[in-house]
Amino acid sequence: METAKNTRQNAVPNDRGNSRRQFIQTAAAGVAVGATALAAGCNGATAGPGPRRATPAETGGPFNQEKLAYAPGALAPVISARTLSFHYGKHHAGYLRKLNKAVRGTPMAKQTLPEIIKATAGNDAQTGVFNNAAQAWNHAFYWKSMQPSGGGAPTGKLLAQVKADFGSVTQLKKELFGAAATQFGSGWAWLVLGADSKIKVLKTGNADNPMTAGHKPLLTIDVWEHAYYLDHQNKRKAYINGFLDKLLSWKFAAANFAG
Ligand SMILES: [Fe+2]
Repeated sequence: METAKNTRQNAVPNDRGNSRRQFIQTAAAGVAVGATALAAGCNGATAGPGPRRATPAETGGPFNQEKLAYAPGALAPVISARTLSFHYGKHHAGYLRKLNKAVRGTPMAKQTLPEIIKATAGNDAQTGVFNNAAQAWNHAFYWKSMQPSGGGAPTGKLLAQVKADFGSVTQLKKELFGAAATQFGSGWAWLVLGADSKIKVLKTGNADNPMTAGHKPLLTIDVWEHAYYLDHQNKRKAYINGFLDKLLSWKFAAANFAG
């Protein structure tokens, strides 16, 4: 099952207003007018220094990095601007660079990330492509799973479904916390909509994504150490609590639930 709004023209999850082509055009214009700012470490879209979006020239296309929707320090103190700088500017950009290098000149260069992820999952000969495609998608989805002044509870139809499937928002958060805290090693915790139309909590290892099992991702928490170690060292639970209480974007989850 494909997550919300991914099309061939739109490789980045839920980038509803900005197709890949539009993004490339925008980014190209940004390179022309903002080379100095980019070199200084500004992403050109948010105030202050912070994570720099890799340009299409740097990632090598066709898959490129979307601008963050918030300022670099807007997620502090749960996630500092420094963590975001490394995570977005180095790790995420690196996955895109490696993916683009791997698919260049192949039919996959014209596919969407979900198409590549589903086509290469479980194929030992395509492990590298799968890992980088899934990590590229997972991170783009993760950036949108957070918002400044997030947390709280869902509303409307999503709240009703949460109550039907978990009994309460508190119980859902407890289960999501548990999945994120107990994922052994690197991986992800997810809120998904199953094929049975029930909301579930899952965890996956390394780059794995629940879409390969037919689930529709609604929200994710990155529990690779690079997501929290600079700010919380080995205290993963402090990061998860901060995510759930202050960053979780129910607005994003609701859009995916409705989409
Ligand atoms: Fe990550």
